[in-house]
Amino acid sequence: MHVFVSRTLPGDGLARLAREHDVEVWPGALPPAPGELLARVAGADALICLLTDAIDGALIDGAPRLRAISNMAAGYDNIDVAAATERRIPVGNTPGVLTETTADLAFALILACARRIVEADRFVREGRWRTWDPGLLLGHDVHGATLGIVGFGEIGRAVARRARGFDMRVLYASRTRVAADEGAAQVDLDTLLRESDVVSLHTPLTAETTHLIGARELALMKRTGILVNTARGGLVDQAALARALGGGTIGAAGLDVAEVEPIPAGDPLLAAPNIVLLPHIGSASHATRSRMAEMAVDNCLAGLAGRRLPNCANPEVYGDGA
Ligand code: NAP
Ligand code: GLV
Repeated sequence: MHVFVSRTLPGDGLARLAREHDVEVWPGALPPAPGELLARVAGADALICLLTDAIDGALIDGAPRLRAISNMAAGYDNIDVAAATERRIPVGNTPGVLTETTADLAFALILACARRIVEADRFVREGRWRTWDPGLLLGHDVHGATLGIVGFGEIGRAVARRARGFDMRVLYASRTRVAADEGAAQVDLDTLLRESDVVSLHTPLTAETTHLIGARELALMKRTGILVNTARGGLVDQAALARALGGGTIGAAGLDVAEVEPIPAGDPLLAAPNIVLLPHIGSASHATRSRMAEMAVDNCLAGLAGRRLPNCANPEVYGDGA
């Protein structure tokens, strides 16, 4: 069967796939343009795609042979899952294997913002380091601070486990109560925003979570508060965040993700003070990216064989209630 893969993947997964199927890999370093993607997927039996590919209803309708869509990411907001479900096409994703790696990065952003690491590095390189100064580059302690986690799933809880080692008080806001709470206390979102020194976002991007953090929510945060987002850019109203940083409404922000990626030149966020910006590298360790590619291939192989996807975002396609 024919599989279209929208980018070269790390590791040996694609070689494994090619032993059983005819595999076409998009050769570009950038994602295929929508028209190009549509043309390539039109005759495919399965698609392995990335979070940079918009898999909408039109694309799904234009691929009559499609038996599986396998996204190499935990998040799948780039896919119209409802449209896939309507066609009874299973959608695969790669959660779990990237949990600890992404939590590491969230913690790196917390530390970078609180202790002004990026700014301090710049200070040294610019030749401005003249002496040890009692008032130089003062930040905020992470140990003993209050951390508010929004979305207490796999990654949110992994961040909470790290926070324990820093003697932090941990609050979380989630739609459901979590039994394995890692010593954290559930509160409503407004309380979390008011009481936390650091707010870290870990929900998927859905209609409900789009702009979950806007001007009102930023105003509830402490003036020294730090906002960290390693989930999806759309959770935060980025224009409101730029204004909040510029006006001193909050203290700092660390973002691995943005509403539009890459952040367009001229975006106010690029000129905002006290912000650390990363190019969506939450899961970017050698080992984790290889595991994600293997999982994406496993999902694809299962779909082609008519087996249940090991990680399926729309299990209702199987109609067995599991
Ligand atoms: P997960 O285990 O499914 O956790 C997501 C949590 O969010 C769930 O506990 C869910 O709980 C909660 N949630 C959903 N809607 C909510 C709402 N409206 N308010 C409060 N909580 C809500 O997923 P995960 O593996 O932790 O990943 C989370 C997200 O991180 C992914 O969807 C992806 O977008 C992003 N991510 C980014 C990177 C990166 O490279 N930066 C890497 C991996 C993942 P309930 O449904 O019970 O409320
Ligand atoms: C990355 O952002 C992912 O969802 O895996």
